[in-house]
Amino acid sequence: MSTKTLPSLLDKMWHDYVTINPLAQKVHDLFTQRGDKVLNDHIALRTFNDPRVNIKVMAAPFVASGYKYGGEYFFKEKKLYAHHYEHADATLPKIFISELKLEECSDVLNKTVKDLLMQIPAGKEHDFDFCSMGTPWKKVSKATYETLYKETEYAAWVAAFGYRPNHFTVFMNALRSFQDIHQLNDFLKAQGIKLNASGGEVKGTPEVFLEQSSTMANNIEVQFSDGAMQIPACYYEFAKRYPLPNGQLYQGFVAASADKIFESTHKGQ
Ligand code: NI
Repeated sequence: MSTKTLPSLLDKMWHDYVTINPLAQKVHDLFTQRGDKVLNDHIALRTFNDPRVNIKVMAAPFVASGYKYGGEYFFKEKKLYAHHYEHADATLPKIFISELKLEECSDVLNKTVKDLLMQIPAGKEHDFDFCSMGTPWKKVSKATYETLYKETEYAAWVAAFGYRPNHFTVFMNALRSFQDIHQLNDFLKAQGIKLNASGGEVKGTPEVFLEQSSTMANNIEVQFSDGAMQIPACYYEFAKRYPLPNGQLYQGFVAASADKIFESTHKGQ
């Protein structure tokens, strides 16, 4: 069934996300069992910079729902560019949308992506819930996934999972039972949850007004055109925001930290 309103879209995105990442539901429940209130800091989406599905297209349902552009980010080595969008209602999650810069990728990758995008039914990308529809193309082969993965894990993830949240992020400031992000990480590790250690478990510092950590993506079985294979799916992120000198909480992102967080979907880190 098609979704036309922001609350139902956010709800659909969450249910879809925890279906393939049950660990997020488990962590969410652990927090609520401690009496904490779980608010989402942001939801992250991945796409390609092709005009049919670029950031602007992906942002459209959110902009139509009152979201405003909040900042841009560059990830040179990963060949990514991103925007974040925020809403005047601070209880609504920010939307972080990144896109792969195809002109910086190989001919083979470009051909594969073009083949995928050509399969999207005309106009489908303008559906309100396109960003939550999964793969609007036929299953790729295992070999295609592996070829993409070798060049950029990001493209392989989008080819396999399509349009859906890559991760949700818990707004740590709203968790009253944790003193700081280190205590939160220790709690998660004590539950046997593996954290992304690339660049250290905590990305960022109070000096850059944002600290982040994340779980590693769980492997799930995905059907490819030539059979099933276990691949990394989604992860859960945690963000603590600090006030700027003007007293307002920093609402942006820190590219150096996000760069490492992207690696939460890498294999066998
Ligand atoms: Ni994030």
